[in-house]
Amino acid sequence: MHMKRRSIAIDGPSGAGKSTLAKQLAAELGFHYVDTGAIYRTVALAACRNGIDCGDGAAVAKLLPDLEITLNYGKDGFQHMYLDGEDVTEAIRQEEISVYTSRVAAIPAVREFLLETQRRLARQHDVIMDGRDIGTVVLPQADLKIYLTASPEARARRRYLELIARGEQVDLDHVLRDVVERDRRDMEREVAPLRQAENAVVVDTTGLDLKESFRLMLNHIKTCLGA
Ligand code: DC
Repeated sequence: MHMKRRSIAIDGPSGAGKSTLAKQLAAELGFHYVDTGAIYRTVALAACRNGIDCGDGAAVAKLLPDLEITLNYGKDGFQHMYLDGEDVTEAIRQEEISVYTSRVAAIPAVREFLLETQRRLARQHDVIMDGRDIGTVVLPQADLKIYLTASPEARARRRYLELIARGEQVDLDHVLRDVVERDRRDMEREVAPLRQAENAVVVDTTGLDLKESFRLMLNHIKTCLGA
């Protein structure tokens, strides 16, 4: 008999720890981790490389049918993104692309284009999927929805340390401004804005380290799924 796949939706603003925690939880539970931000980032990278103004919805929409975006999971279980066969897993992480992505993600045609890709992954695997609209739009029937958040200052600080560790030259104030601007765009856009699903469990990681956040989330998952 075909077993129903299980799904856990994690939504929240940038820098709350979604991807790190979702990755660890997926490894613990034997689920696939689906990083939907990476998929949006790949579309943004393609638009950027084609010299398209990310505010020009019609031009970005026109590009979509020609895009060859694929993903696979390496032996490490890590999600790799490919654009026209090129592994762009690293390239999509640049700060410039982060800002570009929040604008591309506000384009309705882009969200529509990526919806089925995300749902298909959840039909094929047990997933922990993170994003902004997973519990509200992509997987409204998810077995568990977690809204993961933290103060803008805490999130900017984490992002700053991450970028510095990667060798990028940034300053904290600039990163905080980007975080606040990205929150605003993600929460105020018309299509699929970031918001807490009605039946989501809220986890605030402001005063928590990774281990504490992980334990808290794992407890919620175990209680809910009996996993
Ligand atoms: O999670 P992230 O920082 O990689 O996301 C990059 C951008 O993409 C961010 O501005 C929000 C947007 N995004 C979205 O609108 N919907 C998703 N499901 C995932 C990301």
